[in-house]
Amino acid sequence: MKLTGTNHRGLVLALLLALLASGCAGPTAAAPTATVAPARTAAPTATATASATPTLVPTATLTPVPSATPAPVPTATLPPPPPTPTRTATPASVLTATPSLGSGQRALQHVQYLSEKIGSRPAGSASERAAADYIEAQFRSYGYNVQRQPFTFPYFVDRGSKLVTLGQQAEELHPLTLGLSAAASYEGFVANVGLARPQDLPKDGLKGRVALILRGEITFDQKIANVSGAGAAAAIVYNNAAGNFRGRLGGIAAIPVVSISDEEGKHLSDLLARGTVNVRISVDATSENRRGENIIAERQGSTPGTVIFGAHYDSVEAGPGANDNASGTATLLELARLARPGALNQRFIAFSAEELGLYGSAYYVSTLAPEQRQQVAGMVCLDMVGVGDRLRIGGSQQLVDLGLAIASEQGYEAQSLGGSAAGGSDHVSFTSAGMPGALFMFTVGVDLDPRYHSDQDRGSFVDADNLEKMVRVIAALVGRLAGG
Ligand code: BES
Ligand code: ZN
Repeated sequence: MKLTGTNHRGLVLALLLALLASGCAGPTAAAPTATVAPARTAAPTATATASATPTLVPTATLTPVPSATPAPVPTATLPPPPPTPTRTATPASVLTATPSLGSGQRALQHVQYLSEKIGSRPAGSASERAAADYIEAQFRSYGYNVQRQPFTFPYFVDRGSKLVTLGQQAEELHPLTLGLSAAASYEGFVANVGLARPQDLPKDGLKGRVALILRGEITFDQKIANVSGAGAAAAIVYNNAAGNFRGRLGGIAAIPVVSISDEEGKHLSDLLARGTVNVRISVDATSENRRGENIIAERQGSTPGTVIFGAHYDSVEAGPGANDNASGTATLLELARLARPGALNQRFIAFSAEELGLYGSAYYVSTLAPEQRQQVAGMVCLDMVGVGDRLRIGGSQQLVDLGLAIASEQGYEAQSLGGSAAGGSDHVSFTSAGMPGALFMFTVGVDLDPRYHSDQDRGSFVDADNLEKMVRVIAALVGRLAGG
């Protein structure tokens, strides 16, 4: 996948590590936007950048975290994170004492636990639950109360469908399973019900019939509810434009449902106009309601304003999901560890069931009252932050601009993220409900991680430096959002 955007590269300015608190001693000026230089140069190492600004590190942020003890993990096979360094007197060692020093390494340990010890974490699975337990244990070890927010979501896996006409001139058609169709095999007579609105249905009902439905005007769910309410045992939806289509229902259907092309639909209509048509429809799929849990921790602030940090912790079934998205989850944990009380509430949410349709974040947003939505100063989404050489930010313009300016100040190559790539993660649940939100990620040049959604998305490819950079950029961003 190509990702579009603009090049940004700027001056190395102050690093405000661990300034997740708004009471920070950071610059109050708005982020500069005119420091962009076109030339691409290597980003400085995090340590080198930090060494330029030792005096800007406020004393308060050097206080060890409330609980510096290694977090209890469900099975204690991972080495504990390195201890939080203690402060010493010289400027050089002040740097080694900054709380986020070693953030990359700490975060990498979380990546390894999630992607190697636990492995693939499909939404609703036992391994996703194990990841939830791990995340909760980490948050608690940093002194948070943790809320687990359960929700259900429709889980669907398609293994293919078949549709044949029976009788003398048996024909094999080319159906696609409509997402969330029931899994079943059924033989029966076809009834043409047009658009399947209530007025289109036969007076004597559709008992045991296979409803042949034209796409359009009302939703698939309404069509299927209407025909199954009238007794249909299966349904075929044919396209209202050339070719077949891939559709999905909003909820699990009670009957098997497939889609076919307009040509095949018209062909069945023609056959029906001449006599009865008997078909066998078979759908091989899993459609069931599953349970996911968002894991929520919050550092309370002194004002109602809230910044939300989010990362999905589920993965696709196909692989261990190290970059997508143990990396974002690990960065979220590290940000939570570093957060100090400030003006803004800082809410950290590990979202479930992103890969199957942003279900966790959508559910979370659905629980926010309008006043609570108004208090969200921004949602920072961390997804695929462990692989690549280019920091990318997409979403609400104000957050994108601020993030780019900060990355530029810190000497990291950053670009805005456009097109569909900016639309594929949990921040969208917030932006589509009117809250500011942005996705932060890394890409390999302009390309997405080539191991994305594959069995090769392993922890060994995740770069601790990327995780560290992300922690630094987000920490500074929060300081700015809080007016620090
Ligand atoms: N990490 C990806 C999202 C992503 C991919 C963001 C490429 C930016 C660039 C995410 O986990 C994912 O795969 N999302 C789905 C969409 C979602 C709504 C099911 C996707 O992009 O296909
Ligand atoms: Zn992802």
